[in-house]
Amino acid sequence: MTTDDDTTDTTADGSTDTESSCGASTGTDEAEERTSKCGASDSDGSSSSSSGCESTKGEATDEKISATVDDFQSDPGRLVAVGLGPGQPEGMTGRARSTLMDAEHIVGYTTYVELLPDEVTEAADELYDTPMCGEVSRTEEAIDRALAGKDVAIIGSGDPNVYALAGLALEILESKGATASMVDFEVVPGVPAAQSCGARLGAPLVNDTVSISLSDHLTDMPTIESRLHAAAKEGFTITIYNPWSRKRRENYAKCCEILEEHRAPDTPVGVVHGAGRDDERVEVVELRELADLGETDLVDMTTTLVVGNEETYVWDDRMVTPRGYESKYDY
Ligand SMILES: C[S@@+](CC[C@H](N)C(=O)[O-])C[C@H]1O[C@@H](n2cnc3c(N)ncnc32)[C@H](O)[C@@H]1O
Repeated sequence: MTTDDDTTDTTADGSTDTESSCGASTGTDEAEERTSKCGASDSDGSSSSSSGCESTKGEATDEKISATVDDFQSDPGRLVAVGLGPGQPEGMTGRARSTLMDAEHIVGYTTYVELLPDEVTEAADELYDTPMCGEVSRTEEAIDRALAGKDVAIIGSGDPNVYALAGLALEILESKGATASMVDFEVVPGVPAAQSCGARLGAPLVNDTVSISLSDHLTDMPTIESRLHAAAKEGFTITIYNPWSRKRRENYAKCCEILEEHRAPDTPVGVVHGAGRDDERVEVVELRELADLGETDLVDMTTTLVVGNEETYVWDDRMVTPRGYESKYDY
């Protein structure tokens, strides 16, 4: 089982403390258990999980749920899935920040742990990060720590309910024979990429909008294609997540082809790379230009595309999607 969260082609170095303390007594050798169950970063910077980020749906990986609820003796702690928003500390909600300040352990993808403000990382007893992929083992790690009595925050970019780990956490809790109530499971929302990118572009999202992820390791490509056809045909504004990676060039090309089939070549498309991060770039292009951007630095796995609907236009460098007031009022 692999998940859609945080899939990237770039290699992040795992520089923070990766020592695990799951606390389950499964009867295995403790040292071995820490490597195999908790999924800590290997010294070469690769994840110990064998989850292939780029595997396609149906391809099994050997990420397995190991400890069950019966393996933990202590009273459970708490598990909170916290959305960080786009990246910069000021993009985080006050509630997310205070939840993280209260967490004893923070678990997340290395890039997101590195984005945390210093006061948050300094307040935590332990940080646990994995460089990339390994979402199942990382989520299980967070759960095991909570079942072992710690107050744990599992973090991700944007919102935990948008192509992210909130659902996976509940699924793994269930498969361990635990319950959500047992760890007081809670989701603290964050600003999703669609909204932070929309904000950088002006006002492209004010009417009906559909989000589609081009990542095909959890949803197969024919399904993604049929969703793209439907969304483009029905006139929604479309936000596209996970648009391009080296192994998914064809998905991006196919996506552009489908959009061009249903939308005019001059349809405005907002391209936002790294919203709220140091490498942020924002451009508004025409749909006819989109395919060629696939081979540029602008479009990668930290980019979100915002494809305007039939009424979206560009005014003063901003994308504007009319809400419909103009049909009722004179202004
Ligand atoms: C696995 S999804 C996670 C989405 C996240 N949970 C959210 O609510 O935005 C990862 C994708 O989100 C988008 N994304 C995340 N952070 C972004 C940012 N700062 N700027 C632009 N796109 C971003 C990219 O499309 C990326 O491939």
